[in-house]
Amino acid sequence: MRAYKSKVVSPIRLPDREERVAALERAGYNVFELDSADVYVDLLTDSGTGTMSESQWAAMMRGDEAYAGSESFDRLQDAVSEVMGFERIVPAHQGRGAENVLYGALVSEGDYVPNNTHFDTTRAHVANNGAEPVDCPLDGALGDESGGDADERRFPGDLDVAKVRALADEVGSERIPAVVVTLTNNSLAGQPVGVENVREAAAVADDLDATFVVDACRFAENAYLVRERDPEYADCSVAEIAREQLSHADAVVMSGKKDGLVNVGGFVGIRDDPALDDLYERARERGILFEGFTTYGGMAGRDVEAMAVGLREAVEERYVADRVGQVQRLGDLLADRDVPVVRPTGGHAVYVRADEFLPDIPREQFPGQALACELYREGGVRAVELGSFAFPDADRPELVRLALPRRTYGADHLDHVAETFDAVAERRDAGEISGLEIVDEPGMPELRHFSAHLRPVETEEAEAA
Ligand code: F0G
Repeated sequence: MRAYKSKVVSPIRLPDREERVAALERAGYNVFELDSADVYVDLLTDSGTGTMSESQWAAMMRGDEAYAGSESFDRLQDAVSEVMGFERIVPAHQGRGAENVLYGALVSEGDYVPNNTHFDTTRAHVANNGAEPVDCPLDGALGDESGGDADERRFPGDLDVAKVRALADEVGSERIPAVVVTLTNNSLAGQPVGVENVREAAAVADDLDATFVVDACRFAENAYLVRERDPEYADCSVAEIAREQLSHADAVVMSGKKDGLVNVGGFVGIRDDPALDDLYERARERGILFEGFTTYGGMAGRDVEAMAVGLREAVEERYVADRVGQVQRLGDLLADRDVPVVRPTGGHAVYVRADEFLPDIPREQFPGQALACELYREGGVRAVELGSFAFPDADRPELVRLALPRRTYGADHLDHVAETFDAVAERRDAGEISGLEIVDEPGMPELRHFSAHLRPVETEEAEAA
């Protein structure tokens, strides 16, 4: 059952097929280069794309725009303390700003940082400080290559703590300043992390004398999935589970653009523990240097107000049930059509195994990117490739992510997405979908999926014609 009705609307339209074909060509077969006005259902990301509530809009009028000592900051601090349990915060303009503040204060040249799986900006900030990001997911976390429900694990997003211990044995615990757990595991099909795993990760960090950091972007969705999958928490509220799970962390990095339910904003949270005083002071200094004074950190006072309200709404039962339920419904709609999706679905997105959906396109011709382009061509749907195009060097499943903005689309939009898959499947069965090749690749290789241009690979039949 939907928990919201609309009060403000944004017009959208589905351009006709000819326009979509032309737009795709203009974009160089890179969906990041499409104009959003040409997109009908935009599932590129759940980050900063959601709809704010009337309470958030009302709170914005209270925004205290003072450079220092803003009352809005006090209200954010209260919200973070009550909802997440962190008494000290350093605000930032968004998640990666918070990452820059925290990882710059924590890690140095030659260090190693284990994480259940680094999100791309996290990886970049760890590397930017001269340290080596090390992914420590569970082996075979997403099940066997044939997909389906092969994975019996309740929490495929977990950190493999044995891998963290092995890394410490190999490089020495003094080279591991931080152990990180990302809730949910965005780079691994958005799968949740169990509470028990966070406890174990905290214990390992303690043994290694490392700071235990949680990337809490999607902490509320993770807590909801904990209740669904772990009988120990069946009778707890999402708010209680979130508090319990975060209580084990020394620090959190937060992008408010996800479970802060805002369009921009973020912060670092640091536990009020004398052992963390130095870290807090360094983070505050870096906050002032890179983000802004410690009571606004790159946000307007009104943005700070909106996030203070959003954090409380994120753990409301009716909100989070509506939210995760919608993602699960999209997963079901696609699975019912035999679209190979990672199951059970995570909290913010449905991930499609593109190499199984388009088995005739070889990995070198980017089946995931080909699928993302087809979804746009056939239905004006924008998704994002997270496979061989986005991660050229990594041995990763060939995934396409359909991320749902929060409180934004309705059931008819989801139906449209599902029907678009039918249209793509029809073209596939008629042999009409070709792979892609890169034409130019400006800038850093790690960021190529944002800016590279591609073109369809000419098939022999097309060349002969
Ligand atoms: N950590 C995780 C797990 C994320 O998913 C993101 C952003 C960030 C940090 C950085 O936060 O965007 O506010 O700077 N993820 C978005 C996505 C971009 O599409 O998954 P940010």
